[in-house]
Amino acid sequence: MQCASSAQSLPAAMSSSLIYELTSIVDRLDFAKLFPRQQPVEVELGCGDSTFIVEYAARHPERNFIGVERLLGRLRKLDRKGSRLGLTNLRGIRIESAYFLEFLLPPESICALHVYFPDPWPKRKHQHKRLVNERFVELARRALVPGGAVYLRTDNSDYHTQMTTVFGNSAAFRAIETPPELRAFLTDFERDFLAKGVQTLYAAYQRVG
Ligand SMILES: C[S@@+](CC[C@H](N)C(=O)[O-])C[C@H]1O[C@@H](n2cnc3c(N)ncnc32)[C@H](O)[C@@H]1O
Repeated sequence: MQCASSAQSLPAAMSSSLIYELTSIVDRLDFAKLFPRQQPVEVELGCGDSTFIVEYAARHPERNFIGVERLLGRLRKLDRKGSRLGLTNLRGIRIESAYFLEFLLPPESICALHVYFPDPWPKRKHQHKRLVNERFVELARRALVPGGAVYLRTDNSDYHTQMTTVFGNSAAFRAIETPPELRAFLTDFERDFLAKGVQTLYAAYQRVG
C-alpha cells in the first residue's frame, strides 16, 4: 500500500457508536476526534451496507477508515458490524460524498480513496450526476497525500470509460494495478453482481508529485 503507518496513541473521547455525528459542516475534520490512534486514514465514499470497509478495517488495524454514506440505515449496518468486531479504527459519517471530499477532509490528509459501484446514472440526461468526473479528480488530488491512491470499481462499462478517461487525462495521477490483497475484499454490490454473472470493472490511480 502507498501509505506507511507511523502510529501514535492519542487520547480521544470516543462515543459508543461508530457513527460520527458532525458538529460542523463548515469546519474540516480533526481526525484526533474520530480515532484513538493517529495513523494513516483511508476513506470509502458511498460505503452502502459496509461489508468491504468493515472487513478491510478489521484486516488493517494499523490504518484508520472512514465510511461515507448518505443513508442512515446503511450506516447503522457499519456501526453494528464494526462494533461486533470491536473496531476502533472505523467510523461512519452521514454526508454527501463530493461535499465531504471538498469541504470536510483536510488537504492532503488521506492515503486512499475507495469508490465502489457508485450510482451509474445510465441515462444520458442523468450522467452529469455521476460522482466520478473531472471535478472529482481535482477533489481527490487535493485530499490525497502524494503517493496516495484512488481505487474504483463499477459494473457499468460506460462509467468505467468515464472513470479511466478523467483520471487518465490528469497529470496528477498515474494508472496502477489494484493490489491483489485489496481485490480479495468484495463489496456487497459486487457479491450480488458476481452471483448474477455480471462483470465488474476495476481501475486504480496513484497521486504523483
Ligand atoms: C450502488 S451502492 C454501492 C454500495 C457499496 N459501495 C457496495 O459496493 O456495496 C451506492 C451507495 O452510495 C450511496 N450514495 C449514492 N450517492 C451518494 C452521495 N452523493 N453521497 C453519499 N452516498 C451516496 C448510496 O446510498 C448507496 O449506499
